[in-house]
Amino acid sequence: MSVTALVGAQWGDEGKGKIIDILAESADMVVRAQGGNNAGHTVVVGDETYKLHLIPSGILYDGTDCIVGNGTVVDPKVILEEIDGLTSRGINVSRLKIDARAHVILPYHIVLDGLSEDARGKGDIGTTKKGIGPCYMDKAERIGIRMCDLIDKNIFEEKLKRNVEIKNNIITKLYGGKPVDLKTILKEYNSYAERLTSFVTDTSVLVYDAIKAGKNVLFEGAQGALLDLDVGTYPYVTSSHPISGGFCVGAGVGPTLIKDCLGIAKAYTTRVGKGPFPTELNDEIGERIRNVGQEFGTTTGRPRRCGWLDAVILRFAVRVNGLTGIALNKLDTLTGLKTLKICTSYEKNGKIIKNFPADIEELKDCKPVYIETEGWTEDIGNVTRFEDLPKAAQKYVKLIEENVDCKVSMIGVGPKRTQNFNR
Ligand code: GDP
Ligand code: IMO
Ligand code: MG
Repeated sequence: MSVTALVGAQWGDEGKGKIIDILAESADMVVRAQGGNNAGHTVVVGDETYKLHLIPSGILYDGTDCIVGNGTVVDPKVILEEIDGLTSRGINVSRLKIDARAHVILPYHIVLDGLSEDARGKGDIGTTKKGIGPCYMDKAERIGIRMCDLIDKNIFEEKLKRNVEIKNNIITKLYGGKPVDLKTILKEYNSYAERLTSFVTDTSVLVYDAIKAGKNVLFEGAQGALLDLDVGTYPYVTSSHPISGGFCVGAGVGPTLIKDCLGIAKAYTTRVGKGPFPTELNDEIGERIRNVGQEFGTTTGRPRRCGWLDAVILRFAVRVNGLTGIALNKLDTLTGLKTLKICTSYEKNGKIIKNFPADIEELKDCKPVYIETEGWTEDIGNVTRFEDLPKAAQKYVKLIEENVDCKVSMIGVGPKRTQNFNR
């Protein structure tokens, strides 16, 4: 039996979907516990590409149970589109379960995500505008509508009526926006509820029972450590907890039940959305990484900001997640670069900073301190053993390990299931 958490170790889009898919082959259950359809997890199987937003990446295996846990926020329309999309491609989604406590994203959340971003002007966060933040706001305010409410017609009507009144006041009076229509939402969401009822249950029981029965359970993180609401680059973060502790809260399992934690990282760093990024490359190298690595958002299509690998960030991810290993993806993207740089610390006003700063005002002034190492030119897309990587690539991986205090246990050399090997 194994119970493993997989988390993003940077700013998201590290290739979590690919690693989950690979490990899901021997998993009995895959669990999403936070975030919503702000996530975009890509899985490439042969010539087929799947982009999953809310449904766990284990869904592509027939025998794997898939859980959308209580800590997630569910857009019913989006999850139904995902269900239909997968079904039309021959994927069996009957093993999907959604927690009764998960909060529901409603049209006013999406409207408010857009309006509040616009109102921030230049100080916007660069959210995905999927209504994630406003939905979690309602949860914290204790007025949220949960899946158990959605599937109960009377309760849903009562709660929706109250919330539409509150939200329309904010939309029209605070932002001067267009109000949402209660009747339209009620009709549309009642029809979603009918289709979703059979998926809704108390998933915490299912997860607990699976672990107790000695099954292999994987927790699929969304986003990444630096987007964590508490320990990330606040306020340029998401509104949930992508670090490993988030699984306990968001799946309703105790910390003693999770054994291992694998951090997924890219061999360089990317970020989509606003906020400081010390190793960002606004030059032709950054442009090259973006083009070769196809660094464009899976959810919004936005170009991702690219930069050198930052070991300060990875040490932070090792610490806040308790990582027991790192899966390093996209090593192939660096092929052909003459010299590679790894940021090992920051420098601010002549002072060396080893730990990732808590305050982004401090982070803004941090200059990366780099070590340099030689690149390689050989195509590594078909390599299946560490020893067969060019010596310079082996050295690059070892340098990362030395500077982040964690073993690189898996290496990715391409987007396919087969383009990954253990170390
Ligand atoms: P996630 O959100 O962490 O699941 O990552 P995304 O799917 O948003 O972005 C990762 C992108 O990199 C996807 O297009 C993957 O197909 C791709 N990818 C994953 N691993 C590798 C790798 O080792 N090499 C290359 N070239 N692409 C990869
Ligand atoms: P996956 O799971 C990368 C970013 C947004 C924005 C910030 C807040 O695919 O790695 P939100 O809509 O969540 O309120 O936006 O978080 N963000 C992501 N960046 N990958 C993701 O998910 C992300 N989910 C949210 O770009 O900066
Ligand atoms: Mg993604």
